[in-house]
Amino acid sequence: MNGLFLAGLAVGAAAQANIYTSTKAVDVAAAAATATTTSPTSDVKGRVFDRFVTIWLENTDYSKASADPNLLWLASQGITLTNYFGVTHPSEPNYVAAVGGDNFGMDNDNFNQIDANVSTIVDVLEDRGISWSTYQEDMPYSGFEGMGYVNQNTKSNDYVRKHHPTILYNANTTPQRLSQQKNLTMFYQDLAAGKLPQWMFITPNMTSDGHDTSVTTAGTWTRAFLEPLLADKKSSFWKKTLVLITFDENHTYTTGNRVFSILLGDSIKNSKVGSTDAHYYNHYSEIATVEANWDLHTLGRWDVGANVFKNVGDRTGDHIRDDDSVTSLLNATRFLNSSYAGPFNTGFQKAAYPAPNTGIQSPHSLRTVLPAIAAAWQGSKASFYTAGSVINDGQHPPAGYARNPA
Ligand SMILES: *[C@@H]1O[C@H](CO)[C@@H](O)[C@H](O)[C@H]1NC(C)=O
Ligand SMILES: *[C@@H]1O[C@H](CO)[C@@H](O)[C@H](O)[C@H]1NC(C)=O
Ligand SMILES: *[C@@H]1O[C@H](CO)[C@@H](O)[C@H](O)[C@H]1NC(C)=O
Ligand SMILES: *[C@@H]1O[C@H](CO)[C@@H](O)[C@H](O)[C@H]1NC(C)=O
Ligand SMILES: *[C@@H]1O[C@H](CO)[C@@H](O)[C@H](O)[C@H]1NC(C)=O
Ligand SMILES: *[C@@H]1O[C@H](CO)[C@@H](O)[C@H](O)[C@H]1NC(C)=O
Repeated sequence: MNGLFLAGLAVGAAAQANIYTSTKAVDVAAAAATATTTSPTSDVKGRVFDRFVTIWLENTDYSKASADPNLLWLASQGITLTNYFGVTHPSEPNYVAAVGGDNFGMDNDNFNQIDANVSTIVDVLEDRGISWSTYQEDMPYSGFEGMGYVNQNTKSNDYVRKHHPTILYNANTTPQRLSQQKNLTMFYQDLAAGKLPQWMFITPNMTSDGHDTSVTTAGTWTRAFLEPLLADKKSSFWKKTLVLITFDENHTYTTGNRVFSILLGDSIKNSKVGSTDAHYYNHYSEIATVEANWDLHTLGRWDVGANVFKNVGDRTGDHIRDDDSVTSLLNATRFLNSSYAGPFNTGFQKAAYPAPNTGIQSPHSLRTVLPAIAAAWQGSKASFYTAGSVINDGQHPPAGYARNPA
């Protein structure tokens, strides 16, 4: 499970061990020489936006991020979400959650590979013909599955697998899907060619996202990335676009997991620019909002009940259900700062993959679970996911998923 593999091993469909996981420069060069990059596009109209872009920054306390001048400038261009929460610690399970609707008990940043029968947002997007890509700064080539890649001159951390959500799922390691998981060089190429997809996840490198630096660097990078685009209304980036800037987790583990988050873009009404929204959201809201916008099926996990961002939900019929047990400044009892048990739990106990709950529908718009997911998990014991906005955490585990069993 943990570790890197030599080139030339037999390659299974799920790419358990292959040249694409090697981090040796010579192997990376060989794999890069044959790696395929594709840029599928589509034009599926959404109810509120026609393109969704999320940019993830790293490990910063809400109080610090909300004082950064560049992030404040970006906030002035859109809507500040003042009660948006990470769902656990450390980094990797938060990225996993944002595309898969759970983190499967993950409590580490290991070389994790999630079974191919676990679906992600990629499946529900493709079901409706919506194009997608990830853009990971300094990933050495499209479809690289290795643990990370350092800057070849300075040997500093650069690209890391733990911050690349889709690649962590073996469902996304087919040759076609690998070719859509690319680096930021390819973003600029796709931008220039007018070939950006309708859903994209952008992760700056370990310097740019603040992980190895500070929120000052992360804020500077993010403004430098977005400001030229914002200044160019004719850029192919703008297509009724909704941009979400967020952080994977609060830096301080012993308090609530609130993270500073901003929505901006040409899909936001002028009257909302410069406003704040204090409703409760978390990383599952990212999936729920995309599902609501394009009327997609769901994953049958925490995406079903998560609050849809209000600027979208107001127009899709998705109502907010707040959760004071998370958002109350003085009286919070749920901190979303640890994981319950699951197949990727190393600190406490392993537990089986929870099956999606195929019987639940999103509370207002009645979105149903993707039929292919229901078919794949048919006969499995129904699990704990609900259509409510209250989610479990390590201190409030679902039945059978306690971290410290009696
Ligand atoms: C980005 O990916 C492309 C396509 O695989 C590759 O040719 C290029 O060298 C990569 N660029 C960087 C900066 O790593
Ligand atoms: C990360 O990307 C920035 C440009 O966005 C670059 O200046 C920096 O050198 C990169 N970091 C590393 C470790 O390569
Ligand atoms: C989560 O936060 C609560 C409240 O501050 C604290 O008691 C608990 O120890 C924290 N959990 C972790 C894993 O830090
Ligand atoms: C995030 O961490 C900071 C610093 O400890 C703390 O002030 C803040 O309350 C934390 N959590 C929330 C819910 O904002
Ligand atoms: C916290 O709980 C106390 C006691 O139940 C209550 O009086 C107070 O209004 C609550 N404060 C907040 C901010 O919810
Ligand atoms: C999902 O895949 C794993 C690994 O191949 C297998 O053990 C498990 O039985 C599968 N689950 C279902 C519901 O098919």
